[in-house]
Amino acid sequence: MTVKTPEAIEVTPEQFNTLGRYELTDHLERGRVLMFPTPPLELPSEEDIHFLKEKLPEFHTSKNISYYPQAHQVRGIKAPREIEKRTETILKEYQDKVEACLKQLIPSFTRGWTSATSSLRVFEERDRNIPIRARSDRIHLDAGTYGAARGDLILRFLTNLDDKERVWKCKGTVSDLVETFGEAAGLQRGDVLLQDSFLNKVGSGMVRGISKAFPIARTLEQSAYDRAMRRMHNYMKESEEFHRNPEGMVEIRFKPKSCWLVFADMAGHSCASGEFAMINTFMVPRENFRHQEFSPWEVLSRFAAGQSALSPDSPPGT
Ligand SMILES: [Fe+2]
Repeated sequence: MTVKTPEAIEVTPEQFNTLGRYELTDHLERGRVLMFPTPPLELPSEEDIHFLKEKLPEFHTSKNISYYPQAHQVRGIKAPREIEKRTETILKEYQDKVEACLKQLIPSFTRGWTSATSSLRVFEERDRNIPIRARSDRIHLDAGTYGAARGDLILRFLTNLDDKERVWKCKGTVSDLVETFGEAAGLQRGDVLLQDSFLNKVGSGMVRGISKAFPIARTLEQSAYDRAMRRMHNYMKESEEFHRNPEGMVEIRFKPKSCWLVFADMAGHSCASGEFAMINTFMVPRENFRHQEFSPWEVLSRFAAGQSALSPDSPPGT
């Protein structure tokens, strides 16, 4: 089985006003990384970047400092009120800018989407002293961070705010990864792979009830789909053999003050090195895909049915 190399496509400012309706979404649906060497939006001011970089590391309490737009809450920081407030304002304003920008660039993906988080990473990602499943420098597919996705996709817009390059190491796209490593990751063929159990549905209903009063509780909800994707995530991060084998592996370098966009549950990725970045996340309904056959839900459905999980190789624009 061949593990594919994720592709990176550059998008220049000259293209912004002449893009076809599906030009960028067709790339994203195929697990490609869209690179913007020139940011397609206004970055936070130099004063705000300086504040985030210099002030926040000492107040950090988890892997990310994140603003949750649905709950109007910042998490991952414990600081004096004025510092928390300024952090919240910067993260919220940037999320709003990213949302407006993506509505211009990829309008067909924004129908019914959810603005999930505006996150900041302030520490060097390489060799962080945190559990292996939490480490970003191990190649993985993202999974199960925003409650029950049930096939909806994790779209991430990233901004390198640092003065040095951020380096990604990537390997595989969801269909060839599931086809090649699905069994080793513990995915079971058959209906059980994507069907929620009775108990799971009851649990989900309770979480949804609680989340009306506490929106953040929504992140506790799980589904069979999320568990399957989580198995892939864990297997990939933990497997030494997966990381040793160079087949399909590629390094992608992101310049200081550049941006990129990717479905983090479609391209195997890791941050091999990099220190100071923003990550803005949106959950995209899988129905918004023009070519459903590329979506992780369809990939897992084919695997569950005992078929090849591979997606057809149709060229973009078709
Ligand atoms: Fe990730």
